[in-house]
Amino acid sequence: MSKNVVLKMDNVSKGFAKIETDEVTNALNQVSATMKSGEFISLVGPSGCGKSTILRLIAGLIQPTTGTITIDDKPVGEPGPDRGLMFQKATLFPWLTVWDNVAFSLRMQGKLKGNEDKVENMINVIGLKDFRDDYPGQLSGGMAQRVALVRCLINEPDILLLDEPLGALDAFTRMNMQDEILKIWQRRQQLAIMVTHDVDEAIYMGTRVLVMDAHPGRVISDITIDLPMPRDRSSREFVAYRNDILNKLHFGGTSKAEEA
Ligand SMILES: Nc1ncnc2c1ncn2[C@@H]1O[C@H](COP(=O)(O)OP(=O)(O)OP(=O)(O)O)[C@@H](O)[C@H]1O
Ligand SMILES: [Mg+2]
Repeated sequence: MSKNVVLKMDNVSKGFAKIETDEVTNALNQVSATMKSGEFISLVGPSGCGKSTILRLIAGLIQPTTGTITIDDKPVGEPGPDRGLMFQKATLFPWLTVWDNVAFSLRMQGKLKGNEDKVENMINVIGLKDFRDDYPGQLSGGMAQRVALVRCLINEPDILLLDEPLGALDAFTRMNMQDEILKIWQRRQQLAIMVTHDVDEAIYMGTRVLVMDAHPGRVISDITIDLPMPRDRSSREFVAYRNDILNKLHFGGTSKAEEA
């Protein structure tokens, strides 16, 4: 089990100055949310609505312009091993093999000795046993993404920040990896926050779905997914959540057709 934490975003806004003009991009506008260990939060919303910005703020890579982010009532500080961020454009160390990429942070923290089995196990979970000695340049995009994912999971952070972790995967591998991530999360009960463009994935994995909108970036809806796991993607309740979220994202239509 991971440490129990409460993450609070209180009226968080983030502006980015544009380089060419004096204008400021309002990347996030007054976002407030409380998230706890044991929750799996899915973030969905159009491109540019501030999803990655939220993860980078929580990771401590950037600071809010106004508002506060606290973990257990303490302001989030510098990036640390308590928060693991998997970047949207995952990059591996090209000079290290798959095995050494996965083992990297354990080695850096002097924790690799005695944990070699864990590295091995993680590589098996993502189905890359036969590629453990290959270099990133020899992997497909989807394989590299799976390595980046376990490189983040292996640290067992209290807060897991995943930015479109499965975006480069084919549909079947993607569904398998959704279940693998859920298994790890269910075992460790950490707080997971995942960005996805896939509404079904958001509902399938999330205990809550935060729906965002752009200009300015903000949270427009906070939906608790009240369905037991594993979820049936074709159940009536699941489809109802999907229609509701698609409507909020302005892609409604299905539910209207059903009502007619
Ligand atoms: N470092 C930066 N400098 C200037 N503007 C930025 C910076 N980072 C993000 N932005 C702007 O902030 C807004 C939100 O960006 P963000 O990357 O959080 O969006 P997103 O929701 O993750 O989008 P996507 O789905 O395309 O990944 C965008 O308008 C983007 O151009
Ligand atoms: Mg993004």
